[in-house]
Amino acid sequence: MLDVNSVRDDFPALKNQDLIYLDNAATSMTPEPVTRELINYYHELGTSVYRGIYKRAEETTNKFEYTRRKTADFIGAESSREIVFTKNCTESLNILAYSLHHWKDRNGKILVTEMDHHSNILPWRIMAESSNRFQLEYVRVNREGQLDMEDLEAKLSSNSVALAFPAISNVIGAYNPVKKLTDLAHENGALAVVDGAQWLPHRQFNVRDYNVDFLAFSAHKMLGPTGLGILYGKEELLEQMPPPFGGGEMVRSNTKTEVTWNEVPQKFEAGTPPIAQIIAFSKTLSYLNKLGMSSIRKHVNKLTAKALRELEKIPGLKIFGPGKGEERGGLVSFNLEGVHPHDLAAALDSLDDIAIRAGLHCAQPLHEAMKLNATSRASFYVYNDEAEIDRLVDAIKEAKNVLGGEK
Ligand SMILES: Cc1ncc(COP(=O)(O)O)c(C=O)c1O
Repeated sequence: MLDVNSVRDDFPALKNQDLIYLDNAATSMTPEPVTRELINYYHELGTSVYRGIYKRAEETTNKFEYTRRKTADFIGAESSREIVFTKNCTESLNILAYSLHHWKDRNGKILVTEMDHHSNILPWRIMAESSNRFQLEYVRVNREGQLDMEDLEAKLSSNSVALAFPAISNVIGAYNPVKKLTDLAHENGALAVVDGAQWLPHRQFNVRDYNVDFLAFSAHKMLGPTGLGILYGKEELLEQMPPPFGGGEMVRSNTKTEVTWNEVPQKFEAGTPPIAQIIAFSKTLSYLNKLGMSSIRKHVNKLTAKALRELEKIPGLKIFGPGKGEERGGLVSFNLEGVHPHDLAAALDSLDDIAIRAGLHCAQPLHEAMKLNATSRASFYVYNDEAEIDRLVDAIKEAKNVLGGEK
């Protein structure tokens, strides 16, 4: 099990602070080995990658490529050529939608789900609306807050181009059967695109075991630096995809009459990349490996189970998403009858310095499907403990008295 006190000591933004940070699904805190590596880059390296024919630039490039290999290992990719560095999970998915749009032999249905984050809906929507070759369809969520498999099977057909879905919902914590969905997509000739933003922070993801075609995620939600996302793609697919952005390093030859793109993954990384963040991300992966992904998962599951148990006892509080005992992401969304989620979040902040998220969580179609205007969300990570959940519960009860929710 994790020793939360010693873990917490690694996080300068939490050490000796009263803040109870329960907004980890939005972004996580950064441990000292990672921030130190960011500073080391600026203090000790400071050069660009690939371009320089001098020792310092070579050292930077080596560290940079080391992170690519480490990222490939972390998700079980066959080769580091399958790892594209981007700005965030959102950009990874936009790159994919743009490339598919320009992939000449593709046309038909793009399936997304009602539980997707806007990041895994809007790139596809933009693509569909700017072309008459693609149609966007939503797979429904059932009343238990899980993907409606019947609806999925009815909508998936031989003219489906891609099935894009979240591994774990960022609102209801629903956990999707990745391998099953990927197999269904492939049986229908569609690409399987997985948004792993809420999965990667808590559990091991093996792209080969799940046989996914693409996986997108963000470093900043898994103890890494901001400004860095990852797009994994099977090498043979990345090879076929046209690059979305033009610029330095993504091209091998560019005469006035002819152009040859660079090989993968550089073809997708136009311009100077986020070098410091990429180099520091290797320390994030070491840190996660040191804690152990299975210990992280157990810890977060324990906190989530406690939150579900305790929050449920508060009269007038309704929890959304899959029930107890079911596999769930490390978050709980809820509403307190008679109290707007924004008012509740502001009250928790002022009563006990508790940070939760309130609103639509960039998932408006899901709220629409569940007939909700907004929800409150508490999300957990390695530095949270059970005492913080007790304080959350006490503060909600107090807020209810102050704000006059249903008794
Ligand atoms: C499921 C999911 N997908 C995508 C994103 C977008 O991540 P980013 O803003 O880092 O691109 C988020 C962020 O909250 C998310 O929860």
